[in-house]
Amino acid sequence: MIKIAILASGRGSNFKSIMEEIRAGRCNAHPVVLITNNPDAPAIDIAKENNIPVEIVNKKDFASREAFDSEIKQILDRYEAGLVVLAGYMLILRGRDLLEAYKNKIINIHPSLLPAFPGVEAQKQAFDHGCKVSGVTIHFVDPGLDSGPIIYQEAVDISDCKTAEETAAKILKTEHRAYAKVIDMFSKGTFTIDGRRAMFTSGKIRL
Ligand code: GRF
Repeated sequence: MIKIAILASGRGSNFKSIMEEIRAGRCNAHPVVLITNNPDAPAIDIAKENNIPVEIVNKKDFASREAFDSEIKQILDRYEAGLVVLAGYMLILRGRDLLEAYKNKIINIHPSLLPAFPGVEAQKQAFDHGCKVSGVTIHFVDPGLDSGPIIYQEAVDISDCKTAEETAAKILKTEHRAYAKVIDMFSKGTFTIDGRRAMFTSGKIRL
């Protein structure tokens, strides 16, 4: 079973849904640690409820970004994380050592069909733009902003959404289902979801 480290900065609904899918036997993963940069993150309570150790790595306690990222790498090493799952983690990981050591082992979920609408409030960006379809992207993390190779995408019809909030809520439901499926895929090493190949080899990466 794959050991996963969760990185989250906020409410942690994706983290919670991953835990539910694990309990339901639909996601074959063992969460070993929650790492957060936010000592007040509600995600911490979810970790505690599930007896998962919490490591708070606050940027203000470090002299440089390099030192900050190196602390994260040491924690991941210590917990022997096989997959690093960013779930609403609001900082970009830039440390070269960290990204090299965990190449193709750090994944992120983003609430749009990348490369459309990277960055914050992706759902509002899509709604304000008048998009009828948006969706969810799960991708590998590189030093850019939501720019790493795409692993899995799922479209969401947002044509019936009346507000940005409604759009975000509808997309979030798909996020919750998709993230656990992708983690399970990594655990099994199959790279297919529902019989379809999730990770296309024509991109920047081969698995
Ligand atoms: C999600 O919309 C995720 O796609 C984005 O940040 C949000 C985190 O939500 N990266 P939550 O903390 O998992 O509820």
